[in-house]
Amino acid sequence: MAEDHQRKSPAAPLLEGDFPDEAFAEVREILFERIGFDLGMYKDGCIRRRIARRARNCGARGVTDYLARLRGDKDEVPALMAALTIHVSQFFRNFPTFEYLRDRVLPELIQRLRGTRSNELNIWCAGCAGGEEPYTLALLLHEMAPLGLSLSLLATDISPDILQRASEGLYDSQRLVELPDRLRERYFTVEGNRYRLNENIRQMVRFQRHNIMTDTEYPRSDLILCRNVLIYFSREEQDRIIGHFARVLRVGGFLVLGRAENLMGRPRLLFESESARERIYRRV
Ligand SMILES: C[S@@+](CC[C@H](N)C(=O)[O-])C[C@H]1O[C@@H](n2cnc3c(N)ncnc32)[C@H](O)[C@@H]1O
Repeated sequence: MAEDHQRKSPAAPLLEGDFPDEAFAEVREILFERIGFDLGMYKDGCIRRRIARRARNCGARGVTDYLARLRGDKDEVPALMAALTIHVSQFFRNFPTFEYLRDRVLPELIQRLRGTRSNELNIWCAGCAGGEEPYTLALLLHEMAPLGLSLSLLATDISPDILQRASEGLYDSQRLVELPDRLRERYFTVEGNRYRLNENIRQMVRFQRHNIMTDTEYPRSDLILCRNVLIYFSREEQDRIIGHFARVLRVGGFLVLGRAENLMGRPRLLFESESARERIYRRV
């Protein structure tokens, strides 16, 4: 009982990896007022743990102390946002997914589009982090060299900082562990202890800021990758976002989710499973 009381008190130290209701409501209000970002759409427990972690890491003595900092220190809002949206990614993350895209999905899309009037393959990576995922697709497409097609590879994220980093295309070796040596040797240049992706590949990807929760315009696409992003959102938000994806995907187009994500509920009816294992779905 005493422990429960301590956890809910705004003055309590942040030992629990939890964040009390009133304090959470206040953080939500501050973020919404300052940058129009609504925390309510995210999964509760997950987001509270991250706020608590950020508060501990910046040396706040308790919830009250952290709220005072969030209100008074103009740098704390962006710092909290960075802590809430983790940007972990890798080239060829979940290698078999990219094998499936290379061997089945991309050839089918290319074949279908070739000779059509639009003649353009539109690919969108939503929540692209440091660019590893769209660049992986760019590498695959460059290798496939689909003659007679024009490619549009759009990569979006909520974070301007990570988009800036993505456009630079400079990576440490951890991001490249799944990348075949042959591709690393052919498309990267060593700079100190990091690797720079060659410009001809970087130029294939267009980076743009887009918030999949609040932006209402979604780009028309043949293939959408939104991997390891929806896990942070509530079920309701996931359904709403997938509904938007379904609206902009061409019939027969594909949606790829992360390995830990599943298509469920009503939006499931708009798709059939292409590869259950790789979480690839086809718009029906
Ligand atoms: C874990 S990374 C996933 C990167 C990549 N898709 C992958 O699977 O390797 C999640 C990314 O989603 C972005 N993100 C979080 N919320 C978002 C939102 N509302 N709109 C767009 N991107 C968002 C984060 O900034 C982060 O870069």
